[in-house]
Amino acid sequence: MKLKRTKRCHELTESLVGHEVIINGWINTRRDLGGIYFLDIRDRYGMIQVKVGTDAPESLRNQVRKITPEDVIAVRGILAFRPKDAINPAMSTGTLEILADEIELLNKAKTPPFEITRRETGSEDLRLKYRYLDLRTQSLQKNLILRHRAAQAAREFLNQEDFLEIETPFLMKSTPEGARDFLVPSRLHVGHFYALPQSPQTYKQLLMVSGFDKYYQIVKCFRDEDLRADRQPEFTQIDLEMSFVDEKDVCDVAERLLSYIMRKVRNVDLSMPIPVLSYHEAMEKYGTDKPDTRFDLQLFSVDMIAEKTSFQIFKSVLSAGGVIRGLVVPGGSTFSRKEIEEYTQIAKKYGLQGLTFVKVEGGSLSGGISKFFTLELMKALIQQSNAKDGDLIFFSADRWETALTALGAVRTQLGKALNLIDKEAYHALWIHEFPLLERNEEENRYEAKHHPFTAPNPEDEGLLETNPEKVRARAYDLVLNGHEIAGGSIRIHHEELQKKMFSILGISSEEARQKFGFLLDAFQYGAPPHGGIAFGFDRLVMILAGADSIREVIAFPKTTTAQSLMDNAPDVVDEKQLKELHLKVEKDEKP
Ligand code: AMO
Repeated sequence: MKLKRTKRCHELTESLVGHEVIINGWINTRRDLGGIYFLDIRDRYGMIQVKVGTDAPESLRNQVRKITPEDVIAVRGILAFRPKDAINPAMSTGTLEILADEIELLNKAKTPPFEITRRETGSEDLRLKYRYLDLRTQSLQKNLILRHRAAQAAREFLNQEDFLEIETPFLMKSTPEGARDFLVPSRLHVGHFYALPQSPQTYKQLLMVSGFDKYYQIVKCFRDEDLRADRQPEFTQIDLEMSFVDEKDVCDVAERLLSYIMRKVRNVDLSMPIPVLSYHEAMEKYGTDKPDTRFDLQLFSVDMIAEKTSFQIFKSVLSAGGVIRGLVVPGGSTFSRKEIEEYTQIAKKYGLQGLTFVKVEGGSLSGGISKFFTLELMKALIQQSNAKDGDLIFFSADRWETALTALGAVRTQLGKALNLIDKEAYHALWIHEFPLLERNEEENRYEAKHHPFTAPNPEDEGLLETNPEKVRARAYDLVLNGHEIAGGSIRIHHEELQKKMFSILGISSEEARQKFGFLLDAFQYGAPPHGGIAFGFDRLVMILAGADSIREVIAFPKTTTAQSLMDNAPDVVDEKQLKELHLKVEKDEKP
């Protein structure tokens, strides 16, 4: 390369007008205006217009005629002011242009499969296949720069707070935390497997036993689970652990970290202190443990009124110990059958048999299941729900969790569909007092709601054996704009309690020793009280970037079927590699 750059695009300012500059970059666009050629050259830092006029040597003009978008070129020329009528206020170098004297073609580009300046010309799958081209687009460049700045801000804050960044292994023992592990076969130890960490949970606890006091890591985690817009099989956490702390200390650091990052990368002040809801309150009000509180629709109990209606389903649900909840849809009485059916389908996905409704008209109820309400009950419902004429009220009737989560999902969709969400706003919320355990009805056993290392609330420890479902955990989640962006807990640090926890989870003492012996042993040698939290870094960046999916803030993401369309991972491997690992693939006979 002959023409090595002397300036990058953002360094081209009016003070350099009249000076010779060399820039290197990609052709963003080429225009031919009556024999005058304009090239927009793009580098990471910005863009500059290059002009090749009718007075330019024919050889240069010929060269420009062959140039097409995405060619890599070097341009030497004099920086000049553009004529007044050619100023582009939308460009930071919009008053300037380079009058080209020499152009060097550094590499010719094939016509890209979609236009870099118009992402929408390629489907998401096509753009994932050519991810390195998609990454040239302005929105992905901006997102990854923002991601970098968020990571820097996190490090800055945590370093100032005396946290130590310590790396933990990627090849570890399989200790499932809830999702499936990704396994890595060992060549040296036939039939043995490493697992990729679902999180550095056990290591960070051991670092506390070692006395490091405050640990952090911006770290990849791996989970073989069903994917969604805010889940990837490998994702990044800002992972923290602290010794001699309680919930208040960990949450205080976490919210100051969040607010520091937001100020640094978005220049917004998060409203502090972050409000706190108990898990129970969050579920009752919003039907989810990660409510989007940028809009206010709240669920309400219809139990007392439902009991008195003649609607059989309400009665049988209540007598079976279930609940009836309602949700007012402002202006919803204009909903068509089709719209109501769409919301019903959402509720059904969450296990509800059906979504019932009434419309509020003339101070009374109509449509849906209104005929099962007496006049008195209609009045009572309108009063309790604060519904106005023209509103619609949805009802869910089922077991507590199903009734709430189904209606919560309807609420989330209503927020979007009715444009109730202020897109510029950031609403954070702590959720505390989670239940420690969840019943897995299919397998007839308890599961840890967070993970098995979370400490029970000391007030509830007596219930561990008698009424485990009632035990509250010392766990907390941080929610931002309806996404769970962080979760953590105060940990168990006594061997006996940890053993008891494993046993409640149906893990035999042999299995506990085989899987977690190292941790139980460590607890015998002076484990300090400790706790921590982990942020889902991709989710946080997604929200800060205003993106709809974490794929938009990850350089090389996987599809929702966990594939990389660019390099075709996962892929088959050579027979030789399998042999070395003593592995055999059993072909599934069924299609
Ligand atoms: P948890 O499992 O809640 O806790 O994870 C912490 C945060 O990580 C994010 N997250 C994900 N992001 C993208 N894709 C995924 N598949 C995914 N799974 C989780 C979420 C979540 O809040 N070891 C504990 C933390 C602790 O107790 O300190 C843990 O990993 O934003």
